[in-house]
Amino acid sequence: MKSYQKLSTDVSRISEAEEEGADGKPLCHQKLSAWWLGGGLLTVAALLSGVTVWVLGQIWWDQHGISYWSKCTSVPENRRFDCYPEKNVVVTRELCESRGCCFADGEMPLDRINGVPWCFYPPDFPSYTLGSTNETDLGLVGFLTRETKTYYPKDLEKLQLRVEFETDSRLHVKITDATDPRYEVPLDVPQATKRAENPLYSVEFCKEPFGLIVKRRLSGTVLLNTTVAPLFFADQFLQISTVLPSTFLYGLGEHQSNFLHNLEWNTLPLWARDVPPMESYNLYGVHPFYLLMEKGGAAHGVFLLNSNLMEVALQPAPALTWRTTGGILDFYIFLGPDPNLVVQQYQQVIGFPAMPPFWGLGFHLCRWGYGTSNKTWETVKAMRNFQIPQDVQWNDIDYMNGSRDFAVDSEKFASLPQMVEDLHKHGQYYVLILDPGISSVQPPGSYWPYDEGLKRGVFINNTEGKPLIGMVWPGFTAFPDFSNPTTHEWWLENLKHLHAQVPFDGLWLDMNEPSNFIDGSTEGCSKGDLDNPPYMPGILGGSLSARTICASAKQSLSVHYNLHNLYGLMEAKATSRALVEIRGKRPFIISRSTFPSQGKYSGHWLGDNQSKWKDMFWSIPGLLSFSLFGVPLVGADICGFSSSTSEELCIRWMQLGAFYPFSRNHNTQFEKAQDPTAFSPAARTAMKAALELRYTLLPLLYSLFHRAHLQGDTVARPLFFEFPKDEATYAVEKQFLWGRVLLVTPVLEPGADSVIGYFPKGVWYDYYTGSSVNSSGESLKMAAPLDHINVHLREGTILPTQKPGGTTWLTRRNPLTLVAALSQTSTAWGDLFWDDGDSLDTFEKGDYSYLVFNVTQNTFISTVLHSNTEATYITVDKLSVYGVREEPKTVTVSGKNWPFTYLANQVLYVNNLQLPLSQGFSVRWM
Ligand SMILES: *[C@@H]1O[C@H](CO)[C@@H](O)[C@H](O)[C@H]1NC(C)=O
Ligand SMILES: *[C@@H]1O[C@H](CO)[C@@H](O)[C@H](O)[C@H]1NC(C)=O
Ligand SMILES: *[C@@H]1O[C@H](CO)[C@@H](O)[C@H](O)[C@H]1NC(C)=O
Ligand SMILES: *[C@@H]1O[C@H](CO)[C@@H](O)[C@H](O)[C@H]1NC(C)=O
Ligand SMILES: *[C@@H]1O[C@H](CO)[C@@H](O)[C@H](O)[C@H]1NC(C)=O
Ligand SMILES: *[C@@H]1O[C@H](CO)[C@@H](O)[C@H](O)[C@H]1NC(C)=O
Ligand SMILES: *[C@@H]1O[C@H](CO)[C@@H](O)[C@H](O)[C@H]1NC(C)=O
Repeated sequence: MKSYQKLSTDVSRISEAEEEGADGKPLCHQKLSAWWLGGGLLTVAALLSGVTVWVLGQIWWDQHGISYWSKCTSVPENRRFDCYPEKNVVVTRELCESRGCCFADGEMPLDRINGVPWCFYPPDFPSYTLGSTNETDLGLVGFLTRETKTYYPKDLEKLQLRVEFETDSRLHVKITDATDPRYEVPLDVPQATKRAENPLYSVEFCKEPFGLIVKRRLSGTVLLNTTVAPLFFADQFLQISTVLPSTFLYGLGEHQSNFLHNLEWNTLPLWARDVPPMESYNLYGVHPFYLLMEKGGAAHGVFLLNSNLMEVALQPAPALTWRTTGGILDFYIFLGPDPNLVVQQYQQVIGFPAMPPFWGLGFHLCRWGYGTSNKTWETVKAMRNFQIPQDVQWNDIDYMNGSRDFAVDSEKFASLPQMVEDLHKHGQYYVLILDPGISSVQPPGSYWPYDEGLKRGVFINNTEGKPLIGMVWPGFTAFPDFSNPTTHEWWLENLKHLHAQVPFDGLWLDMNEPSNFIDGSTEGCSKGDLDNPPYMPGILGGSLSARTICASAKQSLSVHYNLHNLYGLMEAKATSRALVEIRGKRPFIISRSTFPSQGKYSGHWLGDNQSKWKDMFWSIPGLLSFSLFGVPLVGADICGFSSSTSEELCIRWMQLGAFYPFSRNHNTQFEKAQDPTAFSPAARTAMKAALELRYTLLPLLYSLFHRAHLQGDTVARPLFFEFPKDEATYAVEKQFLWGRVLLVTPVLEPGADSVIGYFPKGVWYDYYTGSSVNSSGESLKMAAPLDHINVHLREGTILPTQKPGGTTWLTRRNPLTLVAALSQTSTAWGDLFWDDGDSLDTFEKGDYSYLVFNVTQNTFISTVLHSNTEATYITVDKLSVYGVREEPKTVTVSGKNWPFTYLANQVLYVNNLQLPLSQGFSVRWM
């Protein structure tokens, strides 16, 4: 029996000795980077001496009687990598030692899921060894081999490691089976052709045990070091760990969690799941991407391109462990160095988001349980009567006949076609819900979607090769296999039939995890390894089939086990193509389940939240996370989905929701109405004001979406993206920016008449009055009466605004007001992207206008960099300049004297300009 006594005084000595060779250099740290490859003998010699030192070290340890247990105690608590992550197992010493791991002393923990692991790897736990490597055009390849088996079945004994220096800021590391191909995520990723010449990173390896070390060359910061724990690559258990250079970690969705992750033994499961958002469990979408802020303000990102069930374990070392149950280890590392660039570089791999139609940025209204199209129509009319802006009306599943897709209830929703026609006549739009489950029980011949689907073999099959049957809203259903191109054709034809009946403009894809009210199928699931993998991450329900279909189900591209997390992405892709085909305009799609590259096809709403103050707050971390995931078109259900809202909550939520990139008020059935017309006149007025503010700001929002589409800029932006050196911004999740321009500080608590917000260093202007505050980087308290949301303009920006109308169709014809917020050196800049708002690929075809606005030396200049006819339809009517320190004596507009107003709070107004947007102009004040 070994002794596990702690010898704390020995700890530091032992760990130092283990990490360093005789010359003080870490043993496992010989440079094998690609630059080294040509460098030959010297390094081989160094390696050999390293090995010698290691061997001598072992002898030294033996002579000094250092045994196995001291290696265990040498591992500091925060560096314990969990050797027994199995859930719901009481780990005994026997179980732990049977894996060759260290068992810690002390009491058996009651809850070890979130605690320090009691069973952890010793530093010499067997792993893979890197053999010699060969240089390739883009980097290098090498083999990883292991001699011993792990405690999981089907270890892969020989792996191929491929390292590619794809761009100066992007490194690609791929580890897979050296002999047989394995499942890989079918994503169109860019293929580099030329090796990066001046990479921001360097790559080194530890040969035995294998480890990958990635450093930022400029600072020497170690971004990744996977030597800290053994690599596992069994058929259904792949694990790799790394230390992190800081605790400022973001991303890894979809979860209800703080924006800045907690690294105190926090494990995040990733598996698409239909559940009302709850903390620490897996939700609707899967995004294995993180962004990390390093000391000093540089940022990097890591994307694991893998679609299997996985979990990410975070620990305070700080360190991170990926555990996935299939596929390969395919990593992209993005070096930034600023966070905006990291997210752009990520989207260069997964794809940039689609440009939404302009109307998609208007206000959307929905509820489950209008019950009839007449009632839906009445709501639209009430909104018009109160002149509250609304662009889009939606219906939930109650429009369907028997909750079946593509079948409209011809009694309760008899007037639906007329309603949609009326919406279109008013420049408004209509969006319908669709669920993937296709009703399978009606008599043959009565429901084309199922009959035809069967005939064409578009459904997911069970292991016996028959359509897998589950249960969703219509009762028993089959599930379309969107990995099959035939299914896309069939889906398109169904949508065409529906569109001929109800000319919808956009689609809402719900229940696409895919959700199933019975676990697996009507016949349960198989007993095999796919339905019961040897390792089960801690997902809700504890089983792969919990509230979804069997993992063993067959899809044309692979088994559902591999494709589950891609279901929402593939459905959105099929739907996006269908909408283009049917309408010939930009598709508008909102999807519940999402995966990397989703932004190319759809936006996302944050799921079935409740009408609670806390849920309103959680929406902000949700927004910001999806900004990192390349899905900028995102918002939560304004006023909350389930349970009843209060008037106060709904006012505050409408104010915040006016700043969601995707702004929709949505309610569940049987709850009190919560659309703006349902409240008191005062509440209605406040909600209308919030929406008019949104409509006023749409030229900015639209331009931000253009930049998102063009290069992956974020729309709803975390503060630290703009102030990466200010650590006080790292945990801000109650405020956010629109681009670099506007700071939004909503009230998130009941009974408040003020709000505290953080203002990074610099001058900030009150959006409404132009009054300024010069912040030293501090939290400030502001008045926030119930009818007011605090919005501030950042110094040095120019904001294009437009007089709001009842719809974006009306707003888009109104004149612009340009608001310049001067920096401390009296400069500012901004831009405007403008096109017809709905045609496909306007930017790609050059059919757009693009303007840049600059202020220098008391002169505002509008420069038209690209123009089309759209810019000739609108005028610039007003210029507001915030922060003009001295009262001007004269103002000239393109050389001519012009009347103006100057206010004591250093605001200059120049009105009645009526300048065509399509021509450059200048305004000068002296
Ligand atoms: C390296 O090249 C040699 C010679 O062509 C080959 O035998 C070996 O398999 C290659 N190694 C790897 C890791 O590809
Ligand atoms: C990587 O981690 C190993 C194991 O903890 C350590 O010995 C080595 O010094 C680390 N390398 C770097 C560059 O930090
Ligand atoms: C609302 O949903 C989003 C995402 O699904 C989640 O991030 C947020 O935490 C949810 N809020 C609550 C408390 O349910
Ligand atoms: C619903 O569909 C069934 C079967 O096609 C049809 O007989 C029935 O009339 C429809 N009912 C309504 C209300 O549309
Ligand atoms: C809807 O309104 C129309 C026109 O007022 C009326 O004829 C029809 O009966 C109504 N339908 C329902 C289902 O209430
Ligand atoms: C499912 O079964 C149908 C026949 O029932 C067949 O046409 C189809 O190709 C099968 N699909 C898959 C992915 O196996
Ligand atoms: C406007 O200002 C920006 C930022 O300072 C600068 O990059 C750009 O060249 C300027 N454009 C014009 C047209 O003056």
